[in-house]
Amino acid sequence: MALSLVHSTLFSKTSQLLIHTKIGFSHFSSSIPFSSSALPSNPKTWRRPVISVLELGGVKIARDDVVRDDPTNNVPDTIFSKLGLQLHRRDQHPLGILKNTIYDYFDTNYSNKFDKFDELCPIVSVKQNFDDVLVPADHVSRSYNDTYYVDSQTVLRCHTSAHQAELLRKGHTHFLVTGDVYRRDSIDSTHYPVFHQMEGFRVFSPDEWEASGMDGTSFAAEDLKKCLEGLATHLFGLLLYVDPVKISGAVEMRWVDTYFPFTNPSFELEIYFKEKWLEVLGCGVTEQEILKRNGKLNNVAWAFGLGLERLAMVLFDIPDIRLFWSDDERFTSQFSKGQLGTKFKPFSRYPPCYKDMSFWISESFTENNLCEVVRGIAGDLVEEVSLIDNFTNKKGMTSHCYRISYRSMERSLTDEEINDLQMSVREQVQSKLNVVLR
Ligand code: DAH
Repeated sequence: MALSLVHSTLFSKTSQLLIHTKIGFSHFSSSIPFSSSALPSNPKTWRRPVISVLELGGVKIARDDVVRDDPTNNVPDTIFSKLGLQLHRRDQHPLGILKNTIYDYFDTNYSNKFDKFDELCPIVSVKQNFDDVLVPADHVSRSYNDTYYVDSQTVLRCHTSAHQAELLRKGHTHFLVTGDVYRRDSIDSTHYPVFHQMEGFRVFSPDEWEASGMDGTSFAAEDLKKCLEGLATHLFGLLLYVDPVKISGAVEMRWVDTYFPFTNPSFELEIYFKEKWLEVLGCGVTEQEILKRNGKLNNVAWAFGLGLERLAMVLFDIPDIRLFWSDDERFTSQFSKGQLGTKFKPFSRYPPCYKDMSFWISESFTENNLCEVVRGIAGDLVEEVSLIDNFTNKKGMTSHCYRISYRSMERSLTDEEINDLQMSVREQVQSKLNVVLR
């Protein structure tokens, strides 16, 4: 089951504590074809080659450093293959275009005061990812079900907030951190286990709020909302009315009060897209403890974490999050450097194929594990995995029926190919997930 606030805001209230919820809470250029159009038709006999060494922020990383057969490691090859691709650093990619447009906004409005980082290594310590931003020891986001662990003390960052503390300690007071983040998750058109975030952080000194007659927290909260509303206006080119929180024209937005371990008060900004409210960013006034620990005793600060894919899906009309990873020229050629908001023209819509599978679950079963198995076999050919039936019999055994939708965004799939995929999925679900197929 999807955490409701994944992608931009894993840490807010709905995902809170483990004990409260079962669901949980340098350039590397590759010559490997990533578009699935390059996949040979028999997925059983073909394995996507995995690059064995890559360079991240000047550090060389070998596959075996990240993917290991060891109980403290849960990083599959499908995830390793995404490390170092850095979509957000490609100026002609929707994510790079969006990042640059946000940079423009900050440069213009804050006279180049914000320092920018977009190459920090995504492999971070548990301390950086969780402890430094006050994520409680029992928070669901720390579980192996939700986060990719390289070993018990090292993770693939699940948010760009992982860099707040180190940058503060280095003396930065205004910064933007953009990067790829990793989360184990369910599968649908807006969820992908790797996505991109931009973290914004601004520190104020007492003289900045004292003159206003406000207390520091209210001052920072007001400044934060003003900054983000200005950003929204810049991105959408429309006027934003905060009360009743609505943007005029095509895009509707709202502020929602929420909870994050690292901010108080905390807010989310949601955008109405395809009949759903999508969280696009979380933000708030930084907990004093974070500032105190990192040498900013007499200050207040605000921070935000923005999900780039979600915003880009709305701005560019991109219907499926998998498209961001496509190397198909029919996708990549549609975007140009500096052109925000070019509407994506779907090149064709190939038919989906649905396969259902039912099984008796065991105590340890989780939907995220199921999705990882399916993705490991079908890659980006899987569009959605959804629970369509769930019951418990008199003996207390629980059965789940999942519908798997297979669809390529680039070509038609053959029956044979899908049957092969589904057969492998069934085999691996049974052997790896400790369930009994029905
Ligand atoms: N790190 C949060 C997440 O990924 C998003 C976020 C919320 C970042 C509030 C922030 C913040 O800097 O202040 O769910």
